[in-house]
Amino acid sequence: MQYGYFDDANREYVITNPQTPWPWINYLGTEDFFSLISNTAGGYSFYKDAKFRRITRYRYNNVPMDSGGKYFYINEDGTVWSPGWKPCKTPLDSYECRHGMNYTKIKGSKNGLEAEVLYFVPLKTKAEVQLLTLRNTSSTVKTFKVFSFVEWCLWNAAADMENFQRNFSTGEVEVQGSVVYHKTEYKERRDHYAYYSVNAPIAGFETDRETFFGLYNGFDEPQTVLEGQTRNSVAHGWSPVASHCLELELQAGESKSFVFVLGYVENPQDQKWESKNIINKKPALEVIDKFDTIEKVIDSFNELKAYWDKLLSVYTVDSGNEKLDRMVNIWNQYQCMITFCFSRSASFFESGIGRGMGFRDSNQDLIGFVHQIPERARERIIDIASTQFQDGGCYHQYQPLTKKGNNEIGQGFNDDPLWLIIGTTSYIKESGDFSILEEPVPFDNEPGTEKSLFHHLTVSFDHVIHHLGPHGLPLIGRADWNDCLNLNCFSNDPNESFQTTENKTAGSKAESLMIAGQFVLYGREYAELCLRLGKKEEAERALKEVSKMTEAVIKHGWDGEWFLRAYDFDGNKIGSNENEEGKIFIESNGWCAMAGIGLEAGMVGKAMDAVNEKLDSEHGIVLNNPAFTKYYIEYGEISSYPPGYKENAGIFCHNNPWIMIGETIQGRGDRAWEYYRKISPAYTEAHSELHKVEPYVYAQMIAGKDAFRPGEAKNSWLTGTAAWNYYAITQYILGIKPDYDGLIVNPCIPADWKGFTVNRKFRGANYEIRISNPDGRMSGVRKLTLDGILLEGNHIPCQPNGDHLVLVEL
Ligand code: GLC
Ligand code: GLC
Repeated sequence: MQYGYFDDANREYVITNPQTPWPWINYLGTEDFFSLISNTAGGYSFYKDAKFRRITRYRYNNVPMDSGGKYFYINEDGTVWSPGWKPCKTPLDSYECRHGMNYTKIKGSKNGLEAEVLYFVPLKTKAEVQLLTLRNTSSTVKTFKVFSFVEWCLWNAAADMENFQRNFSTGEVEVQGSVVYHKTEYKERRDHYAYYSVNAPIAGFETDRETFFGLYNGFDEPQTVLEGQTRNSVAHGWSPVASHCLELELQAGESKSFVFVLGYVENPQDQKWESKNIINKKPALEVIDKFDTIEKVIDSFNELKAYWDKLLSVYTVDSGNEKLDRMVNIWNQYQCMITFCFSRSASFFESGIGRGMGFRDSNQDLIGFVHQIPERARERIIDIASTQFQDGGCYHQYQPLTKKGNNEIGQGFNDDPLWLIIGTTSYIKESGDFSILEEPVPFDNEPGTEKSLFHHLTVSFDHVIHHLGPHGLPLIGRADWNDCLNLNCFSNDPNESFQTTENKTAGSKAESLMIAGQFVLYGREYAELCLRLGKKEEAERALKEVSKMTEAVIKHGWDGEWFLRAYDFDGNKIGSNENEEGKIFIESNGWCAMAGIGLEAGMVGKAMDAVNEKLDSEHGIVLNNPAFTKYYIEYGEISSYPPGYKENAGIFCHNNPWIMIGETIQGRGDRAWEYYRKISPAYTEAHSELHKVEPYVYAQMIAGKDAFRPGEAKNSWLTGTAAWNYYAITQYILGIKPDYDGLIVNPCIPADWKGFTVNRKFRGANYEIRISNPDGRMSGVRKLTLDGILLEGNHIPCQPNGDHLVLVEL
């Protein structure tokens, strides 16, 4: 069953039934002012950091679901309704929500009155703009009232939900003209406030929540709206809100539009006040002025659209398969931008309070984003590297507002450092900018400790060598990529966090085959970079370590049919046929395959076959098998999840592309594509009622074959799945890969594909790359011409600006 459809021409997903099986959301803003918005206008806004600078309130996991948002209420002769259906839930005559690239349009109608709201955050603006249009589609005059609504958050989203003894006394607002200003704590240590305006005279307002709703009412029955009468309340403590009231009359066929601006202002310390206790409103009024007419709003909306035209023009495919094209050309790239902006901090599954930017997460996000805006990737790499320690270890997360490492979550995840290598080399391959390697970057943000970024890569590489276990394999530390395989944790206290609790380290033999594969692959990547820089000795040193690791894997990491997952604290095998549960895991097999370990000896082929036989399922590849059915204290959180969920044999979509790539390494395009297709959102659309979350973006997890409801997805939007699937499909299946001095063309596709065309903008030039597959092959470039000239091999050297035609035959 579907709840809408893709409108590819407009790059929108159109939801036609508001009662989606879960709120289907979108993101507004890509710079520093952000909003999350659901298909019924639920959601919230924040500035830079969802924890420290929350602008409006939201209550996660509420009853009813998705309560709180940017609501409009209409009262026409006592019929009260909202264009997004919620919160009133008054049955509508029509409803439509269009989620587009950083904007959402919600339209509803009732009794011949239509209300449409366009929500977006204009480029370079610290505000969300809402363009509300009301149309009288009936043949008689209509008189009615419209009420806007937002609820202010008292800035720190965690304290806002905890510290009620203080919160209920601090709230402060000012109202001037049609603008409500939220200035809680501005008097003391904050120099920022928020505001909500409308570009028309208002009939009244409310700023006190209790007055607006009535103490015992829900979002669906605000007293002010039901009575059609404002009391012009001014909040003193309790819960400040902002609501404007417009009194309107529309002739038959007439329409009127209004611009609402929800903004954020930071004032310099010496310009905070206009007069005693009266805030300096100048900067807010300047923004309000910029959007005071519909024309201005439409212009800035068109700028946003043009911005996305440009971003999405860097890599486009024309394959003749509309589902594939829409994922590659639109939604997967869009999701990559969103994961770049938010890492894992704020979605409808991530509260925005628990997590900042992850070290490993953000590096991985870069591989799907770097082609869009390389300059922003550059800045991100420096930010991430600045949270590293001298020995190559690093904070697991940092807060976007302060850019400082998060002490509560700490360090010691031994895969973390290696991700910096792929983040950095991806950036250089896209941009050609080697100068980033000379950039001075501090350790732990400590001024005076700066060393070149290249040095940071060296210590990242060495961190693994300095933490080897008894088999010469990498020690796992707190965990590797799988945060739930906690081999040194031994927790039997439910009040402890598996990730942060004190670990037993002395005497640990816990080694990771996933990090081993990662080290071989990214160690070679590092060595190649060294060669490009003329650092021959360093390259040789690195390659020596890489081959030692390769040998260690072959000797101690092979179980006969597949790669082991790990050794536990006591040196027992994990992910072995000898185990009773968790005999085989996806991560180590994916990584050792991508690294090509034992490729010639047939190990990669065998391992991929074992994955196919034991881990593949109708909805995707599960993480491990058999699922754990009891708690293993020596494995930690992985065995805490019920079978089939999350890291315990869920389909963790993030790691499926590792297998896709592993298959392409051996030229098996049919299997790689089959795995791609299974978890691709466009393909899950048809069973949306089961899949539950948005059909336009990847979810972190789809319940696995051992779960109660296989195929049901959770944790949509913020997942490394976005970057990895984009990377796998564009660089390994379609096979157009940026390299230091050109593009490599190496498709690996199902034999029955006749061909496809990729348009790739790369360092100023445009390449139209037409692949044809006359003999029904899966891989191998037989012939490649560039602008009519036959080239050896499959490497296109960088060309001068302008258009170039590349013809490729498999
Ligand atoms: C979550 C974390 C990520 C981790 C993955 C697997 O997505 O953000 O860092 O690698 O889970 O446990
Ligand atoms: C839980 C989740 C995992 C996540 C980790 C850290 O263990 O299962 O996906 O990476 O928490 O937040």
